Amino acid sequence: MSSRAADVIPAADRRSPDRPTPDLATSDLPAARTARRGAAAVLLDGVLKRFGTVTALEETRLRVEQGEFLTLLGPSGCGKTTLLNLMAGFLEADAGEILIGGEQVTATPPYERQIGIVFQNYALFPHMSVARNVGYGLRMRGVPKREIAARVEETLALVKLQGFADRSPRQLSGGQQQRVALARALVIRPRVLLLDEPFSALDKNLRGAMQVELKEIQRRLGVTTVFVTHDQGEALSLSDRIVVMSAGRIRQVGTPDEVYRHPQDRFVAGFIGDVNTLPARLETLSGVRATVALGDLRREVEAAALRDRPPGSPVDVFVRPDHLGVRPAGEGGTLPARVAALVYQGSHIDLHADLATGERVVVRVPGQGALATHAPGTAIGLAVPQGGLVAFPPE
Ligand SMILES: Nc1ncnc2c1ncn2[C@@H]1O[C@H](COP(=O)(O)OP(=O)(O)OP(=O)(O)O)[C@@H](O)[C@H]1O
Ligand SMILES: [Mg+2]
Repeated sequence: MSSRAADVIPAADRRSPDRPTPDLATSDLPAARTARRGAAAVLLDGVLKRFGTVTALEETRLRVEQGEFLTLLGPSGCGKTTLLNLMAGFLEADAGEILIGGEQVTATPPYERQIGIVFQNYALFPHMSVARNVGYGLRMRGVPKREIAARVEETLALVKLQGFADRSPRQLSGGQQQRVALARALVIRPRVLLLDEPFSALDKNLRGAMQVELKEIQRRLGVTTVFVTHDQGEALSLSDRIVVMSAGRIRQVGTPDEVYRHPQDRFVAGFIGDVNTLPARLETLSGVRATVALGDLRREVEAAALRDRPPGSPVDVFVRPDHLGVRPAGEGGTLPARVAALVYQGSHIDLHADLATGERVVVRVPGQGALATHAPGTAIGLAVPQGGLVAFPPE
């Protein structure tokens, strides 16, 4: 371990000052660390990346578990590709260590990391047939010809491209090209499969179909997968765990349900799923719960994000459009509001309403009935659920 890396190991991992400083040449520390971390498919330990004055990735610690489907999710420029390229070895970290399967790879070049990679833009070799594209990694590794042929055929079957072996990439649709790219990444039996927005160039229907197939293949092979997307729907539907990133920083790591229902900060709350923000006041804090006042309504929320706030401070309550309800105006236990617009969405109507306090909210009303009963201008009572609310201090 270099001293440069030692500077950025998170505090919890540092040796306490009362223990002797290890002599790195003779200490058992690096070996012990490797053994302890051996179980992770990928481990980034204090990894940091700058481009000139831009910090693309702040000091980051991330464990990818064996066999899991982990998604890096965040807006454009937040550092997803940077993180992926660090794992792949296309970028060198300015600090920290990277381990794959417990093995130190910080200074290992990409082709020796036994990693499969699929990019957004196919990146197939245009002058090679499908079979030669898929077999490329095996030829580079000196695998015998007969074995290459068998493995290429088997992998083309896996991605449902039997019979396409002799075609040129030019003769394939976008979806088929991306299957070839996936086959090329899988044929080497990678320790980790990395995918950077692999479906974003495909139309919506094809993207949905490819997502289902990728998930099936991933489950069947049990290959550890790190998937990059800025599409929260894609992340929620595919992942075992989601890493939510913004501005070069990991904001939260959790299962889709955890990040959807228990966002840790307002960025995550606003980024995952559609959400309304309702202005409220903090009333009381007790243990893990807090009580907030929304107009005349009292609601309980998780207290964690409000702990340092005095009673009476303003807070924003986050609530999903499908959790709000429309009731007759003046009904007890509702907030007064007025319908501003109705947006037809097929299976539901998005009813936009203005609160008496001026905020605009969206309520997802199932069916089409609201079109007839709630014309713009209608006064309504907005029903706010008792549970499932989260609140954060205003920005
Ligand atoms: N080679 C580079 N030189 C300079 N700056 C870079 C380089 N690569 C990335 N950056 C900067 O680092 C930050 C993170 O970029 P990155 O490509 O990781 O974002 P991303 O999350 O993948 O975004 P997108 O969703 O648009 O692909 C951005 O500010 C970007 O401009
Ligand atoms: Mg990117």
